[in-house]
Amino acid sequence: MNILVTGGAGYIGSILTEELVANGHTVVVYDNLVMGHRAAVHSKAAFVEADIADTGVLTRTLKEHSIEAVMHLAAYTSVGESVANPEKYIQNNYVASVSLLDAMVEAGVTRIVFSSTAAVYGEPKKLPLTEEDETSPINTYGESKLAVEKALWKYNENHGLRFVALRYFNVGGASLHNGEWHDPETHLIPDILNTARGKDEILEIYGNDYPTPDGTCVRDYIHVKDLANAHILALNALDDFSGVYNLGTGIGNSVREVIEAARRITGAPIPVKFIERRPGDPAVLTASAEKIKRELGWKPQDDNLDKILGSYWLWLQNNPNGYDDKV
Ligand SMILES: NC(=O)c1ccc[n+]([C@@H]2O[C@H](COP(=O)([O-])OP(=O)(O)OC[C@H]3O[C@@H](n4cnc5c(N)ncnc54)[C@H](O)[C@@H]3O)[C@@H](O)[C@H]2O)c1
Repeated sequence: MNILVTGGAGYIGSILTEELVANGHTVVVYDNLVMGHRAAVHSKAAFVEADIADTGVLTRTLKEHSIEAVMHLAAYTSVGESVANPEKYIQNNYVASVSLLDAMVEAGVTRIVFSSTAAVYGEPKKLPLTEEDETSPINTYGESKLAVEKALWKYNENHGLRFVALRYFNVGGASLHNGEWHDPETHLIPDILNTARGKDEILEIYGNDYPTPDGTCVRDYIHVKDLANAHILALNALDDFSGVYNLGTGIGNSVREVIEAARRITGAPIPVKFIERRPGDPAVLTASAEKIKRELGWKPQDDNLDKILGSYWLWLQNNPNGYDDKV
């Protein structure tokens, strides 16, 4: 299939592109490089450097490359920033996504897999979260993603667009070729391992007074390669139906547990400092992924912290400057 990957120069998009190419698909990466890296674009993918809000370029790209499906990952991803600067998230994650849907309708493209998030749920009333649980986001990042999900249902009803929205929980790990490299970095695993290798002096942890066994937030960590694999299954299912799936493992690990695992793997002391809680962070988020296992046959292979941390640690050893010294 000819597939457009928006955000394909970013962390998850670059690894998803690897999987798509390995599965015989032809990929066009569409990314404005606001957070992504030219060097992360797969050598076998075509590359269009443009914004998804640029409907003209987008529609032309969809038509010129005879695109049959879109994997839509392009977005801003920082929860904290979305609380401080909500308009930025409404504009880029919601408004620009709707213009992508319009471009798809205009170009006659009827399949889309959308990167949604656990942040659509807000503070859970019970755990693990299932797709039927109430969605009540507590930050604009989650609100912007939920708004796109709602738009997808409308475009499904009114334009026959078929979609799968994948609600990712916390994604980690690397492939041999690509890994997470953001500036600034706001995700826990890169921050921990950058402290382990001495790039950062001390690891700042947001809050140690949450109502969890050790006082730090609990999250459900999923390996990026398992996540990429779920997209391939979603793509194959798109002919028959539309729907929403959680992607997690059902296992919660606290921030302290992730740090302990990283100490074990790296042998580094990883000094930490506790600071104020960050607004918009629920105490615990864990997913039930039973629906995607049952309906699409998803089988995560690397669903443990050691594999997630180990693969990313290896990538950092091989790429100490990330993409900064690559073209
Ligand atoms: N990393 C996680 O744990 C996680 C969890 C849940 C959901 N997600 C979702 O997965 C997707 C990918 O996340 P990531 O961690 O790879 O982030 P990332 O920042 O590494 O990748 C996003 C990419 O989108 C591009 N982009 C952003 N706005 C754009 C625009 N307007 N036009 C064109 N390109 C644009 C950026 O340049 C970047 O390359 C996002 O939609 C994110 O919300 C990620």
